[in-house]
Amino acid sequence: MAEAANTRDLAGRVALVTGGDSGIGAAITRELAGRGAHVVINWHSEEGPAEALAREVARGGAEALAVGGDVSDEDDANRLVAETVARFGRIDILVANAGIQIDAPALELEAKDWRKVLDVNLTGQFLVAKAAARQFVEQGVNENRRSAGVIVCMSSVHDVVPWAGHVNYAAAKGGVDMLMKTLAQELGRHRIRVVGIAPGAIKTDINREAWSDEERASQLRELIPYGRIGEVEDVAKPVAWLCSDEADYVTGTTLYVDGGMTLYPGFIGNG
Ligand code: BGC
Repeated sequence: MAEAANTRDLAGRVALVTGGDSGIGAAITRELAGRGAHVVINWHSEEGPAEALAREVARGGAEALAVGGDVSDEDDANRLVAETVARFGRIDILVANAGIQIDAPALELEAKDWRKVLDVNLTGQFLVAKAAARQFVEQGVNENRRSAGVIVCMSSVHDVVPWAGHVNYAAAKGGVDMLMKTLAQELGRHRIRVVGIAPGAIKTDINREAWSDEERASQLRELIPYGRIGEVEDVAKPVAWLCSDEADYVTGTTLYVDGGMTLYPGFIGNG
């Protein structure tokens, strides 16, 4: 069970977390709510877990709403933001977290699976960021807030680390880096911050086969100088900080939360 947040620095803020019902997204939902934010939990495939999480978060005192929708569909992306505003009157934070993997060697990867991953992981982030940013511009900078809004783009170490067998995923995450930077450059004048967070190997369902048996887990740890596989809370807490006013001068950059995976661990004792 996650440790409770020890600060209410997001009290009264309204956040939308895409894919907020599972894995890293669910931990982000809990962390933002624990710090006082109202959270809209977007789900895609199954309503049950999102509703259960909304009830859990509500027991802790935060207000939460579960909303279904596919971020790669423009009408859905717009509706997610519209339903957030309809329920809470505004939006302050978007965590563009929803993402998928469909893995295959490049020579066997089908065009439809290339497109699907690019659609969800890259185009989906753009569509929901655009919808949120339009709302941020309309709202402007309100009382008790330093920015008009914050967008956190869920990236990965694979925005810089090539990943054989996952070319669609790595290409999408590489794209997320320039999406994030370009939006930060373009939207700064509206006092909108756009940042990236790049997790390494975090224990979730998406990579269960890489850590669930001890032999694979120990191979995976070889890639992590810090020597442990990450937990979802390792990512959720820095995300909450990035969303807070303490990070008000942080924009257009990515925070790597990876136990050192991006430090070329293959060079330890080699080269
Ligand atoms: C992927 C995981 C992988 C990790 C490190 C993440 O972005 O979703 O499947 O374990 O990168 O390679």
